[in-house]
Amino acid sequence: MKHKSAGGKLWGGRFTESTDAFVESFTASVEFDQRLYRYDIQGSCAHARMLCKVGVISAAERDAILGGLDQIEQAIERGEFEWSVSLEDVHMNIEARLTAMIGDAGKKLHTGRSRNDQVATDLRLYLRDQIDAACRELLRLQEGLLTVAEREFDTLLPGFTHLQVAMPVTFGHHMLAWFENLQRDRQRLLECRARVNVMPLGAAALAGTSFPIDRHYTAELLGFDRPAENSLDAVSDRDFVIEFCACAALLLTHLSRFSEELILWASTQFDFVDLPDRFCTGSSIMPQKKNPDVPELVRGKSGRVIGNLVGLLTLMKGQPLAYNKDNQEDKEPLFDTVDTLLGCLRAFADMIPAIRVKADNMRLAAATGYSTATDLADYLVRKGVPFRDAHEIVGAAVRLGIDSKRELSELSLTELQALSGNIEQDVFRVLTPEGSVSSRNHFGGTAPQQVEAAVERARKRLGN
Ligand code: ARG
Repeated sequence: MKHKSAGGKLWGGRFTESTDAFVESFTASVEFDQRLYRYDIQGSCAHARMLCKVGVISAAERDAILGGLDQIEQAIERGEFEWSVSLEDVHMNIEARLTAMIGDAGKKLHTGRSRNDQVATDLRLYLRDQIDAACRELLRLQEGLLTVAEREFDTLLPGFTHLQVAMPVTFGHHMLAWFENLQRDRQRLLECRARVNVMPLGAAALAGTSFPIDRHYTAELLGFDRPAENSLDAVSDRDFVIEFCACAALLLTHLSRFSEELILWASTQFDFVDLPDRFCTGSSIMPQKKNPDVPELVRGKSGRVIGNLVGLLTLMKGQPLAYNKDNQEDKEPLFDTVDTLLGCLRAFADMIPAIRVKADNMRLAAATGYSTATDLADYLVRKGVPFRDAHEIVGAAVRLGIDSKRELSELSLTELQALSGNIEQDVFRVLTPEGSVSSRNHFGGTAPQQVEAAVERARKRLGN
């Protein structure tokens, strides 16, 4: 006897009235989860092969399923697949089409499986690919930073603390600071990938299945490191989504800070760098404007990604085991985070090597603001003056400079000697920004020689 379900739903057997029209669209996810179709099909193919291997379906049924899914994938890729909201999500749209195409064999595909383990599997396959894509873009950006660091290994600019001139640094050293941030971000993504790459399939709805499934075989087919240990955990937790979004939020926080520097540096007041025209836009009213839109947008978009992270944590925190429909809400923030992250990385990877550095302006800024005051204090210490006394003496020299509108290097030897008898002619060498940076010549320091060595080490570390 043919059983006809209420409203034609795949799950309609126990229902007597069809779904409210609004509820149907309210509960549907197909509009956004259709983006998982390739992974859904990949997972279904592996599941079908496994069902055949353990004798639950025949080889003919398996082949019909594989052939049908292949045709469906092609139809989707050609834009010829009609998605139906009444079929709720990507999983049931594909399964219904498969059955329409190949008949009863299609109805057997869902044996020993549930949408709960299916969706968690799809998401993990999807995210694994996206992490790989993000790491590729990140690598490209890091390589760009190394190119700039190498080129500008001895270019001077002021280093800041509290956004006040602190000490001269080299531009190469500054670029390498961002390289280090991003290196940790890439390691974090790779560590996250290892936890993503675990297979939920076989957990079924929550408790596993009564069929003699071979989860290790399915995991191997899908390139997962292993099947998840616990079925309840496998279908219910989205910590891997949250972890990825945390990695993305941190990465974009770094790019946001970097953006802020580029925006400052490109301003008329700083005038340290020129961003290529192709990364900027103009104003519709002020003809002189060239706005640093790309860094501004990256700074802005980081806020959305941080919001997605907080949203996902909040989504998860009240859920009892095992699967709850709440989890359908994980997809849009995840997809948005992936798109935003990939976009920002691409923009930065393209832009960074194309930045033009205004070395003269930066050199001038590095030589002003008493940036070498600490060098003078260190000089006095080397002449035997205790550091606290040296600090006091240099403070007086700075005061003299401020009062007479001169830099330390513009004070005369006689004026300096009036402050400390230990000062000699050789003092002027330490008062230049070049002297200052080249004296910071130790592992991790800003001296040009150190920058060259650090770039070389960084190239080797890119492989890890
Ligand atoms: N669309 C659902 C999701 O994204 C798929 C799993 C639905 N499972 C269920 N038992 N209703 O989470």
